[in-house]
Amino acid sequence: MTSARRILVVDDDRAFRLSTAQLLRQDGHEVDVAGDAAEAVERLEAGGFDLVLLDMRMPGMDGLTAVEVLRTRGLRAPILMISGFGTIDTAVESIHRGADHFLSKPVDPDVLSAKVAELMERRPAQERVREGALGAMVGHARVMRDVFDAVRRVAPTEATVLITGETGTGKELLARAVHDLSPRSSGPFVPVNCAALAEGVLESELFGHVRGAFTGAVGERKGLFAAAQGGTIFLDEVGDVSLALQQRLLRVLQEREVVPVGAVRPERVDVRVVAATHRDLESEMREGRFRDDLFYRLDVFRIDVPPLRDRAADVPLLVEAALARMRERTPGSSSLAFSPLAMRLLRAHRWPGNVRELFAVVESAAIRAGGGRIEAQHLPPAIRDPGAAGSAPPQEERYRAAEPEAEREAIEAALTEADGSRSKAAELLGMSRTTLWRRMKEFGLGEE
Ligand SMILES: Nc1ncnc2c1ncn2[C@@H]1O[C@H](COP(=O)(O)OP(=O)(O)OP(=O)(O)O)[C@@H](O)[C@H]1O
Ligand SMILES: [Mg+2]
Repeated sequence: MTSARRILVVDDDRAFRLSTAQLLRQDGHEVDVAGDAAEAVERLEAGGFDLVLLDMRMPGMDGLTAVEVLRTRGLRAPILMISGFGTIDTAVESIHRGADHFLSKPVDPDVLSAKVAELMERRPAQERVREGALGAMVGHARVMRDVFDAVRRVAPTEATVLITGETGTGKELLARAVHDLSPRSSGPFVPVNCAALAEGVLESELFGHVRGAFTGAVGERKGLFAAAQGGTIFLDEVGDVSLALQQRLLRVLQEREVVPVGAVRPERVDVRVVAATHRDLESEMREGRFRDDLFYRLDVFRIDVPPLRDRAADVPLLVEAALARMRERTPGSSSLAFSPLAMRLLRAHRWPGNVRELFAVVESAAIRAGGGRIEAQHLPPAIRDPGAAGSAPPQEERYRAAEPEAEREAIEAALTEADGSRSKAAELLGMSRTTLWRRMKEFGLGEE
């Protein structure tokens, strides 16, 4: 018999937990148990597990999300998924997300023993290439996987990339990923915010200037295109560039050479261009504010980043990424976690500011919670009580949850937690009782 290995059994079904623990102990393993995913995360913080047995269906965070969370937190040990209703779809999905194997209930004890032994034999597992991640970016929603695929395909080429998407969707991170995955990754990545600089300044910043080119140009100055030589320049907010400067940009893209301000001789540049904008360039073109010839030079390979509300399934993962960032910076914050209710409210929000807004909300909620568990009441009013007076937009354009289903679940969970008391549930949700009552009616909950 090999030396004892530590196994964590995570299942909300107490009977299954205990019998499985007993079985594995008989096999000579050390076993720890957890009743839900949040508890599992806590246990893992203590560290040192060689295998995790994870139930698919649990209250709070489900098994699929838990797999991702555990992997994001650096768990390397094999994960064996156990499901009460093992459809092939969920099985495959859990493997995609980082699980190693899948068994359906009822589980044959011999099969379980053998599988556990086999999985632990495989350790140490080779570095995992996580499918749901691209550099610093996380995302598992179908739409984000497509975006990541597009990046992986275009990065090794020299093609100019145009990234479009609402504010805060991650355009800059994607631009960096294009660079990092390209043969130019050892060269510089030079981001330029075209919207932040006045026209004249932007021109000499981009192209450089010779001595005496204009008043104040005391010395010669290299431009950002020259600085990006051998690497990638990122023209952020390219839709905000003036028409005059657009003409000069066009020239660089066409000729692959720049003329510094005041110079006569052009200089060759070997730079890959990635551009981004939150504007609709097609309509800017129709309005005559954006040159179509420049547009077609930029729009060689388009990546459109979907707004967060169209990938609400990624919210828990992004929340985890935000918490991980905070934990790194703040010592003693290792137990930061969202309550299931708070998480559901986050999923239901529409996120006009997208991922940036989500990161800000997570950070402020974590601070408000003082390092412990983050509850609904720590969230901003617009998220916990979207229909509240004061924050309420006009009736007709009233807030609609990105995922009504998530909101409904949140309300049901609160009612259960409050033993059916509506005022207590409203308090848990941080909603007014009137809002709760209205929502319950809309969802057809608690009909008398
Ligand atoms: N998929 C993701 N995974 C992890 N972090 C992300 C992801 N998307 C965005 N972020 C984070 O969200 C914030 C906003 O991202 P970024 O600056 O790339 O957005 P943007 O689209 O360029 O926004 P803007 O249009 O306002 O310039 C950053 O802190 C970034 O690290
Ligand atoms: Mg940006």
